[in-house]
Amino acid sequence: MTTAITSPDCTASADAARERVLDLARWAPSGDNTQVWRFQHDADGGFTVLGHDTRDEVVYDHNGRASQFALGALLETIRIAATTVGRQAVIERLDVGDTRSPRWHVALIAAPGIIPDHLAAQIERRTTNRLPFSTRQPNACEWLALAHALGGHRLRAFTSLADRWRMARLLTGFGWVRYSCPECWEVHRKILDFDHVRSADRVPVRSLGADPLTEAVMRWSMPAWARLRFLNRWLGGTIAPCLRFDLLPALRCAGVVAIVAPGPIDDLDSQIAAGAAVQRLWLTATSLGLSLQPAYTPISFAGMVRDQRRFTHAPGVWERATHLVAAWNGQLGFDAERTVFAARIGFARAPYARSVRRKINELMVM
Ligand SMILES: Cc1cc2nc3c(=O)[nH]c(=O)nc-3n(C[C@H](O)[C@H](O)[C@H](O)COP(=O)(O)O)c2cc1C
Repeated sequence: MTTAITSPDCTASADAARERVLDLARWAPSGDNTQVWRFQHDADGGFTVLGHDTRDEVVYDHNGRASQFALGALLETIRIAATTVGRQAVIERLDVGDTRSPRWHVALIAAPGIIPDHLAAQIERRTTNRLPFSTRQPNACEWLALAHALGGHRLRAFTSLADRWRMARLLTGFGWVRYSCPECWEVHRKILDFDHVRSADRVPVRSLGADPLTEAVMRWSMPAWARLRFLNRWLGGTIAPCLRFDLLPALRCAGVVAIVAPGPIDDLDSQIAAGAAVQRLWLTATSLGLSLQPAYTPISFAGMVRDQRRFTHAPGVWERATHLVAAWNGQLGFDAERTVFAARIGFARAPYARSVRRKINELMVM
């Protein structure tokens, strides 16, 4: 699918340009739709991005990396959005050193003649698709466009039947880890929204593609770990979600892509760069009719195993995670250390159930 490049609205006032950019920027993806950003207007017509991370509340946000990743996607979205109002976003990091609550100043500089980024039209259309996809492979041009979108990062694609089967086994194993420990349940309990098909601050259960029975069981069991533990112990409670949310989608897709950073990923700036690259990849995929579902838990568990952070007290779960991470690293080989992101990819229609966003006034700090 192609998108027409329309002329930027260079006549927009500074205030209108800023509102437009902020309105688009909030559609950037974030882990569990946490929207780890707030905005503050600045006197120069620009604004400050106030970032935070969820490492203290979300087990998957190891060292705040998932949040930093989302902030990178946000900054890239700001850059893209600015071009639609004839502006260039000049982004400068403030408080260098503070990685828990990093801030950036964004100046929107008038740039007559700037060509609107063709990815701008995809910002609101891009969404996480957790449903099964077609197994049809993207063609060579489509793969090239995806790889090119990443700039300095590198794309790896696991698409053969054997690779997809290996990935499916791994992702199902990681699913079992997620459903078997109270630390992960603590996160799922807070972020799953059972009441809305479009959730402004969480993830709608409907977006997981659960059948009515699984959804009813989840609704009953989610409020208390004791209920989930009972299900897991006596009724094989991890089997249905592993099959439905992990194995089936992992087999029903064109493959799994992994994004490899050009250098070591040891500071906030490298995470920000990775988040920016993946947002460009995701928007490019959307423009091609391809859906993506991040598979971030292997990345997150791999980091915890590497740092020997025993994230759970549940018996046997840490040991299983350690084995799975070893197999995951084996699959990625030389690139394992620098793999910053992984996702299922494939052709599919956009899902109706999705996360939407908080209203812009809820994201503004006076
Ligand atoms: C760093 C990061 C990690 C994510 N990990 C997962 C994941 O493991 N599984 C998943 O289904 N979605 C994952 N997501 C997708 C988010 O849940 C999603 O972006 C968010 O809920 C907003 O929804 P949207 O992408 O449909 O706009 C991740 C997103 C980010 C930025």
